[in-house]
Amino acid sequence: MIEVTRNNCSDIILPMAKVVVFANQKGGVGKTTTTVNIGAYMAEAGKKVLLVDFDPQGNLSSSLGITNTEKSVYEVLLGEVAARDAVQSTPQENLFILPSNLNLSGATIELSKSDKKDSLQYLKNGLNPLKSSYDYILIDCPPSLGVLTVNGFVAADTVLIPLQCEYFALEGLKYMYSMTIKRIQKSVNPNLKIAGIIFTMYDSRTNLGKEVIKSVQDTFKQHPEMVFHTVIPRNIRLSEAPSHGVPINHYDRNCIGAKCYEKLTKEVLKRV
Ligand SMILES: Nc1ncnc2c1ncn2[C@@H]1O[C@H](COP(=O)(O)OP(=O)(O)OP(=O)(O)O)[C@@H](O)[C@H]1O
Ligand SMILES: [Mg+2]
Repeated sequence: MIEVTRNNCSDIILPMAKVVVFANQKGGVGKTTTTVNIGAYMAEAGKKVLLVDFDPQGNLSSSLGITNTEKSVYEVLLGEVAARDAVQSTPQENLFILPSNLNLSGATIELSKSDKKDSLQYLKNGLNPLKSSYDYILIDCPPSLGVLTVNGFVAADTVLIPLQCEYFALEGLKYMYSMTIKRIQKSVNPNLKIAGIIFTMYDSRTNLGKEVIKSVQDTFKQHPEMVFHTVIPRNIRLSEAPSHGVPINHYDRNCIGAKCYEKLTKEVLKRV
């Protein structure tokens, strides 16, 4: 069901986007791949989706073939460009992107000039004018728990955690939960919910993947809803699609990676 709000100026009821942040401080675990492909399948399912590239590396933007990033999320944060003017279309109908570029890495300095509480609200404020135009806003975070990722947590309704099936995955997860998410819930965003953990790059030929999944399931045995059932396998087609500037449904919709992201998206849509 779409959340609605009353517009101050009239009696028109506007839909309000649900904001989902994809975060894990560990690098290369599949955050960007998961954001772009869940976004693409949500859009295929008829939802209007905005992807927000909130990583100075700009991988989400380049994986959708976006080369002009002059008007980026960074300029929006600084109030130099209206959010609507920075949004671009993508090869997938119903899927839009607020791109990023390397300037965003300097935002840490700019944001720290403002008062501490304000510095955490920049993204939330920047996205506010867009919320009535989309069903979902998906934010792809950089691999750190710095001010950018915290801005993502403050702007979001829910967190999705892509977790690579490898050693140390659980330690990083516990740290992110206790040191960041719990603190955000206690202070600036008490409504922030964790929608769950998504296992990525699973390799069925090794025991390690199975062991990691089991240890995470054991850790959350009181809260099995914390773990998504659909596991994303390691699949070369998923790593090839970005270099063609399209999500996996446009590159090879019959490969195992595509099928799994399609199934995962159905699960995600029931939870967020
Ligand atoms: N299921 C998969 N199978 C094979 N390759 C994958 C899979 N998921 C992601 N990759 C590849 O692994 C690399 C890292 O993935 P991705 O960029 O999505 O991770 P990330 O967490 O966003 O990284 P960063 O922390 O640097 O932002 C990329 O080259 C991507 O194409
Ligand atoms: Mg990334």
